[in-house]
Amino acid sequence: MKMKFPVEAFASIETPFYYYDVDLLKATLDAVKREAAKYEGFHVHYAIKANYNHRLLEIVNQAGIGADCVSGGEVRAALNAGIPAGKVVFAGVGKTDKEIALSLDAGIFCFNVESVPEIEAIERLAAERGVVAQVAVRVNPNVGAHTHANITTGLAENKFGVNYEQLDAVIDVIESMSHVKLIGLHFHIGSQLLVMDDFIALCCRINELQELLVETRGLVLPHINVGGGLGIRYDFPDRYPIPDFEAYFATYANNLKLHPGQQLHFELGRSLVAQCGALITRATYIKNGTCKKFVIVDAGMNDLIRPALYDAYHRIENLTSDKPDEVYDVVGPVCESSDVFCKDRRMPSTQRGDILAIRSAGAYGEAMAFGYNCRELPRAVLSTDI
Ligand code: LLP
Repeated sequence: MKMKFPVEAFASIETPFYYYDVDLLKATLDAVKREAAKYEGFHVHYAIKANYNHRLLEIVNQAGIGADCVSGGEVRAALNAGIPAGKVVFAGVGKTDKEIALSLDAGIFCFNVESVPEIEAIERLAAERGVVAQVAVRVNPNVGAHTHANITTGLAENKFGVNYEQLDAVIDVIESMSHVKLIGLHFHIGSQLLVMDDFIALCCRINELQELLVETRGLVLPHINVGGGLGIRYDFPDRYPIPDFEAYFATYANNLKLHPGQQLHFELGRSLVAQCGALITRATYIKNGTCKKFVIVDAGMNDLIRPALYDAYHRIENLTSDKPDEVYDVVGPVCESSDVFCKDRRMPSTQRGDILAIRSAGAYGEAMAFGYNCRELPRAVLSTDI
């Protein structure tokens, strides 16, 4: 099933806007559910950071998928969309008292904790409320993911998690507390990973660690959370509209040694929503430079920052021209030289008014939009609106 664009309807919609193909989203959610359900005790949480659009969250909730949140705002967004608190996990190195309190009051499933001071804050706030908070310690597995440096999170030098050497002491602290209960371990090595080897490396580290915990402390925890990170094909969105969830879950099933009854949690963001979304924009001007031709579009880096921030590749399609190709830089109107969506890209000859789709933008697109230059935030149009 590939993404469909109702180009005629787009003609009367003001650009730029994010367009989401609900059929493709639902097919993707069905696929992830189906593949995870092949294994006993596999649970999928949607990493809301990828896209917190309320209507998409409702669809995620209808599919019965939980939520992975990294702020109080995301916890609220998950609950507002109807996601049960019992399926919400809350991660992040800098949880404030206010965010912790909100999550305790809602009764979320688990806090992924990253430091002793944070655990102390949770203990204090949980004691005030007379509740017990369930926590999983985020362990920094020191596994390098082969992806962009800015989205690698599992190296010792990254700010995330508790290092191996500190883990024992952190568990001691938790065990000494009465309002915090250790229920699991949490890991995440990075994002946009397309080779399963990185996940296999993570499985090996978790296996070692689990063995060590049994040997040294006789400790078996009921939950393991391996984070997210499954990548998508930005180069061929129509050939690979739905990520290979089968291979992904099989990798964990085949390489991770779970104890009997141990539950395995996943926090998938990009792979669930990226391919069903595109940023739709119009060509405002075609400009001939001395050595380049520019298509200046009405979307900017404030609408989709990935190319400027990570040098990320997104396919760009002209939905209204099938003329012979020319070579263009597609750029936005924002006053920054990095406001460039692509350079030296071959695409059909483009004219003012043509409608372009910047593909695979459903994840970390709308969610990362901002208002620089007093630009309006991009709106969202769902296929079901048309
Ligand atoms: N769990 C944790 C702890 C994470 O830090 C992340 C992403 C996820 C789950 C979800 O990862 P995913 O399945 O989406 O790869 N803005 C960047 C990506 C940042 C990812 C941050 N953490 C981008 O546009 O590529």
